[in-house]
Amino acid sequence: GLMLPYSGAFAPLGVAIENGVRMAINEQGGKLAGREIEWFKVDDESDPSKGIENANKLVQRDKVDVLIGTVHSGVQMGIQRVARDSGVLSLIPNAGVHAATRSLCAPNVFRTSFSNSQPTLALGQTMVNKGHKRAVWITWKYAAGDEAFEGFKESYTKAGGTIIKELGLPFPNVEFQALLTEIAALKPDAVACFFAGPSGAKFMKDFAAAGLKGKIALYGSGFLTEGLLDDELAPSAQGIMTTLHYSASLASKRNDAFRLAYAKTYKMQPDVFAVQGYDAGLLLLQGAAAVNGDLSNKKALYAAMEGAVIDSPRGKWTMSKAHNPVQDMYLRVVQGKENKVLGVAAKALSDSGAGCKLV
Ligand code: BEZ
Repeated sequence: GLMLPYSGAFAPLGVAIENGVRMAINEQGGKLAGREIEWFKVDDESDPSKGIENANKLVQRDKVDVLIGTVHSGVQMGIQRVARDSGVLSLIPNAGVHAATRSLCAPNVFRTSFSNSQPTLALGQTMVNKGHKRAVWITWKYAAGDEAFEGFKESYTKAGGTIIKELGLPFPNVEFQALLTEIAALKPDAVACFFAGPSGAKFMKDFAAAGLKGKIALYGSGFLTEGLLDDELAPSAQGIMTTLHYSASLASKRNDAFRLAYAKTYKMQPDVFAVQGYDAGLLLLQGAAAVNGDLSNKKALYAAMEGAVIDSPRGKWTMSKAHNPVQDMYLRVVQGKENKVLGVAAKALSDSGAGCKLV
């Protein structure tokens, strides 16, 4: 069962994830350890109020063995509830909400993406190294933005930076003008942010149109610039630095092969969301192989998934005890239409897993 956004602010992210999942499985014959797969799909619209109801469409109505979803942290909380109540195997291909692999972690829930504070934990030091010591933070006010802020606050203040103001707007609002006027008046050295999807493109364009580009440095967790850099956006995005667990420009044979195959299959370029979906497919394949396709053999299935090493386009990663990726974070800068990798900003970064009883 795929529970993903196919409409709303995160629709392109849902499509990329589904493409990635299917590509991984198709590359290994389109089956799970020799067994046929029946697919079910639900559009969650990134609407948290329908999270439980939508997850139950897959679990109770369609009786899926595996639920792959979703993108939005608030919707994920609904899936987490259903996963914990039903025991269905739940693979999280994006949403970074801390609780899923911290206080509400579960033996049957595995994440193949990141925890919300992971990318921004790698951001603060670079900003201070660049001499940007007074920053404004801006985001959507919901779990993903608030928890990205936690990571930013920790890394930036530890490095000696000062956060002079925290700004926010409700998801999926994109009326940035008043907040940009406030930023101009505050005159910080830098702005750091969490936004994702096409709304991130609007933020970068509005930032430039407000006259702030070139005066105030703009940083973000890497979702800001991911999958968006086209001819129209590129002028507004040049020089923006971000941290993330993937970049299209990562130089490896694994990444090259993945990108080529994805572009051939889907006639579009893959981004981090496609990679996270692909890795969910790889994880499921590894688990299924270990139990000869018998997903009801949960003990052996989960043990195999816990011990999996995922040979991902992002680089190899392993699963933490709380079931969240232990992975490198890359420092990237927008050059042309590329997120050029400048180096590894945090090596084998693990989420704390605080409060998880599996740890
Ligand atoms: C989230 O809601 O967890 C999320 C959405 C888009 C990108 C990254 C995180």
